Amino acid sequence: MSGRPGIEVAAGPEDLAGRAARLFCHAARAAVTARGRFAVAISGGSTPRPVWARLAGPHHRDDLPWERIEFFWADERCVPPDHPDSNYRAARQTLLDRVPVDPARIHRVRGEAEPAVAAEEYDGELRRTLATGAGEPPRLDLALLGLGPDGHTASLFPGSAALESSRLAEAVPAAIVLPPVVDRVTLTPVALNAARQVAFLVAGASKAPAVRAAIEGPHDPARCPARAISPPGGRALWLLDAAAAAGLEDRDRPAAAAP
Ligand code: 6PG
Repeated sequence: MSGRPGIEVAAGPEDLAGRAARLFCHAARAAVTARGRFAVAISGGSTPRPVWARLAGPHHRDDLPWERIEFFWADERCVPPDHPDSNYRAARQTLLDRVPVDPARIHRVRGEAEPAVAAEEYDGELRRTLATGAGEPPRLDLALLGLGPDGHTASLFPGSAALESSRLAEAVPAAIVLPPVVDRVTLTPVALNAARQVAFLVAGASKAPAVRAAIEGPHDPARCPARAISPPGGRALWLLDAAAAAGLEDRDRPAAAAP
């Protein structure tokens, strides 16, 4: 992880969701001002759902340039878009169907396709959408990531070949994933480390060992894939609740925010 990561410890679930929502809004406004659009990769799982609810709610709904946001997913389960395990379906229900996004800027992974085909298509869509024409690598503006208790992020699981991929997106076999045990498609460290900003949103005591391994442990992405995420020059930001931060050394654990 290049540079020391930024760490914020929230006072509770509301504060955590509020910090993540403000980060999203700030990154969106800065990107649209600088480049006319905001390209973000969002994660599945349960942790970010309160963030989507906030963004779609009265706090933020009217102060975001929704029609200029390019939505991508950090990963997707290889299931149809209306399947209960679909990250796309979850984002539609909690956010996308509640705000005026441009449908042409929703770049879902075709979970209903063969995983290798879906990964190939997604890789191509990322390159087409994020191409700068200046020979620069395709860059997201923000990747908002979760963390599993095994140190996985997106669908980069311990021992995954995707950790070494030179592509932007790869298929991941069901055999190595945590439940739901289905094939997946994931952004790779190549895609995530090119992002202008990476933020991890992590809550709960079950994640404390993985948070500690990711921030303070040895550099061993094969065992702790979150260690593979180190945006050059920038710093990953960790938005944690007190339980997820509990395993950190005092030097790394800022005082929890006042409630
Ligand atoms: C997924 C996610 C995954 C998630 C972590 C944390 O598709 O499952 O992208 O990487 O972010 O597993 O999940 P929770 O937020 O539910 O703990």
